[in-house]
Amino acid sequence: MPILHWGPRFSVQVEAMDADHRELFAALNDLWLAVERSSALAVIAETLERVSSTMAAHFSREEALLEQWNYPRYRTHMDEHRQFSASSTPEVEMGHFRHEPIAYL
Ligand SMILES: [Fe+2]
Repeated sequence: MPILHWGPRFSVQVEAMDADHRELFAALNDLWLAVERSSALAVIAETLERVSSTMAAHFSREEALLEQWNYPRYRTHMDEHRQFSASSTPEVEMGHFRHEPIAYL
């Protein structure tokens, strides 16, 4: 069963970013389901890669928009993305996962 449910309360009022966030929720839910179902390690690794690439693409698009709009916290938010990316590198070791918070999506 999915654990993340996107709803209007998560909207940032920018459709492209909302769409990215919904895609991230879907990728994270797929990862959760793969683990919950004890899927093959190859399937879990592939799903992790999808989460990672979806997140990296989103961060890039979001940072471009924030810079374009002269968002006052641009540098701070960019640093948060970098820190999150560095701390959430997917790791699959002997079938165990390291869970990380998703506060900086
Ligand atoms: Fe975001």
